[in-house]
Amino acid sequence: MLTCCVSSIRVTASTEAPSVLTESGASMSVDMWSIHRVVVFALAAASSFTPVYAQEFSQSTDPDCHSHDSQRSPHTVKSRWNMSVSNLIQDPDQLRVSCKKLIEAFPVDEVDGNFVRTVKNCIFSKSIPTPLKGPLRLAAVSKDVIEGILDLHVAVTQSEDFLHYASGGRLLLESVPLAHRYGGHQFGYWAGQLGDGRAHLLGQYYNRKGETWELQLKGSGKTPYSRSGDGRAVIRSSVREFLCSEAMHFLGVPTSRAASLIVSEEPVLRDQFYNGNVKTERGAVVLRLAKSWFRIGSLEILAQSGEIDLLRKLLNFVTDEHFPSISSSDPDKYLVFFTTVVNETAHLIAQWMSVGFAHGVCNTDNFSLLSITIDYGPFGFMESYNPNFVPSTSDDEGRYSIGAQANAGLFNLEKLLGALTPVLTQKQQKVAKMILKGYVSIYQTRIHQIFKAKLGLLGEEEEDNYLIAFLLKMMEDTQSDFTMTFRQLSEVSDMQLQNRNFTQMWALDDLSLHKHFSEWLNMYLSRVNGQQNDTDLDRQNRMKNINPRYVLRNWMAESAIKKAEMNDFSEVELLHHILSSPFVTQETAEEAGYAARPPLWAQGLKVSCSS
Ligand SMILES: *[C@@H]1O[C@H](CO)[C@@H](O)[C@H](O)[C@H]1NC(C)=O
Ligand SMILES: *[C@@H]1O[C@H](CO)[C@@H](O)[C@H](O)[C@H]1NC(C)=O
Ligand SMILES: *[C@@H]1O[C@H](CO)[C@@H](O)[C@H](O)[C@H]1NC(C)=O
Ligand SMILES: *[C@@H]1O[C@H](CO)[C@@H](O)[C@H](O)[C@H]1NC(C)=O
Ligand SMILES: *[C@@H]1O[C@H](CO)[C@@H](O)[C@H](O)[C@H]1NC(C)=O
Repeated sequence: MLTCCVSSIRVTASTEAPSVLTESGASMSVDMWSIHRVVVFALAAASSFTPVYAQEFSQSTDPDCHSHDSQRSPHTVKSRWNMSVSNLIQDPDQLRVSCKKLIEAFPVDEVDGNFVRTVKNCIFSKSIPTPLKGPLRLAAVSKDVIEGILDLHVAVTQSEDFLHYASGGRLLLESVPLAHRYGGHQFGYWAGQLGDGRAHLLGQYYNRKGETWELQLKGSGKTPYSRSGDGRAVIRSSVREFLCSEAMHFLGVPTSRAASLIVSEEPVLRDQFYNGNVKTERGAVVLRLAKSWFRIGSLEILAQSGEIDLLRKLLNFVTDEHFPSISSSDPDKYLVFFTTVVNETAHLIAQWMSVGFAHGVCNTDNFSLLSITIDYGPFGFMESYNPNFVPSTSDDEGRYSIGAQANAGLFNLEKLLGALTPVLTQKQQKVAKMILKGYVSIYQTRIHQIFKAKLGLLGEEEEDNYLIAFLLKMMEDTQSDFTMTFRQLSEVSDMQLQNRNFTQMWALDDLSLHKHFSEWLNMYLSRVNGQQNDTDLDRQNRMKNINPRYVLRNWMAESAIKKAEMNDFSEVELLHHILSSPFVTQETAEEAGYAARPPLWAQGLKVSCSS
């Protein structure tokens, strides 16, 4: 099962979704090396892809976020609120963040206090954050989230009050902080109770666009689920989460968001590479948001411990709140829910692949039921194209290598099905298994669409799969930079391609060293030049809107972190700003070398799970 969905692409003519290629099944129509293990990559919405930055303030019709709200008419939303910027909330005390709905919906842990324990028969435990030692500093803030989601005037974030609210030192009026009980499969094995070990859910916020968002602090101290942890997060990992979740949003990938990053003077001991070298770092807290923080592991723990009534209750809550198209009286509603998660998880992972994102820890507790990217830990963006790219030092076996993510998704969906089994009839279980079988082809179809769009291809031609696989194979052989190869293909004119004029195009320069480059180039040029109703400029513009020029490369984050640890947050701010328009060439980014060949010191940088 585990190897079945490495999405190799069949090189023979096939009009529909590419089928899985076996080592022996490859039939090659062109006399060259065999493209056996071309792992194909991908992203979100191929031909119809619009970068999120172009639509971020539209009414919530985003199909990826199954919010209740998408059903409310824009008209109702507008009449409730005056959307003028001057009407933003100026005083954080007026922010109404409430856990009422969650507390009323579910039983809450009867035991109080943050001591570590096994918890049963509940979804949440009440847990008060532990304030960080001051002085506190605001290291970064996302105006887009603060104003666009929280309706707060960004000036509020400069206040002393905000520092306390956003780091757990003070509680908003109606907030009853909760820690969520969940379990999960880690690296393939059931790990039992996990839960929010250093995160506190502050409550839900119903914003003026009519959306409901859940606010969470990360790094805010111990909870009943802290196991052996200290409940803290360090600056290093918090900067990475803040920057990457915001960057992913602007790349158009469904994700949790980050509102602010607050750093403290609280000493936190970490052995970053688990080699006995313990260092004192400093504590930080990210205020992060998602429409929901429920995970596959949220359901698993209930099924595993036989709490089936509660399992049903949680499923009903999640479907009612977040899957408005599922009717609560539908006898097949859990099946429909499963079908939706299978589809959207396949789509999400395809989007990760399209931007070269490796999550790093695809355990079931890190996989959202809403199929958004959550839990940014030892993630990485692939630089040189390599399907075996593993961002995390803790993953020796490469279980979660970039090319294995689709498999990890399938494994996690199997576990989700396992958790749903107690509430499905025999017949529904059978159907669910069939649906799960369809995952591979959903993923591959998406990958195919996305990579076609990344190459600017319109329509469908027989050799498209071959063209894509051929390119990726050359990239692998020449270790071309993933992001910049696609970007530079978007920026060259067909004349330049024809003449192989790659002045300043370092990634294409690398690629063109491949002995079969000319063959591919001729195929590509004839494919794009033969497109009806298309111009070279249109092709370039389409491609520039799907192939980012800037991603959060490890070395970029590392450099910003070094400065942040010295209380210089300028580079965090610069990166945050630049990565908010990743498809647009920006002077400051060019000066900083963010689209240039990575510096030598960047080679071999690794990230660990320690955070
Ligand atoms: C919205 O509020 C602003 C500032 O308070 C005011 O000037 C404007 O007239 C209001 N617009 C509507 C449609 O009520
Ligand atoms: C699958 O998910 C994608 C992404 O959210 C969505 O656009 C598409 O309509 C879904 N397909 C089905 C059949 O629901
Ligand atoms: C992912 O899952 C593991 C356990 O399965 C957990 O320890 C970790 O905190 C989660 N998040 C990240 C970012 O790794
Ligand atoms: C190569 O392309 C650049 C534009 O990027 C152009 O300025 C230059 O003249 C071209 N060189 C040749 C030899 O065609
Ligand atoms: C050609 O493209 C234009 C603009 O993209 C579109 O409006 C028109 O319908 C297209 N025509 C054909 C024949 O596809």
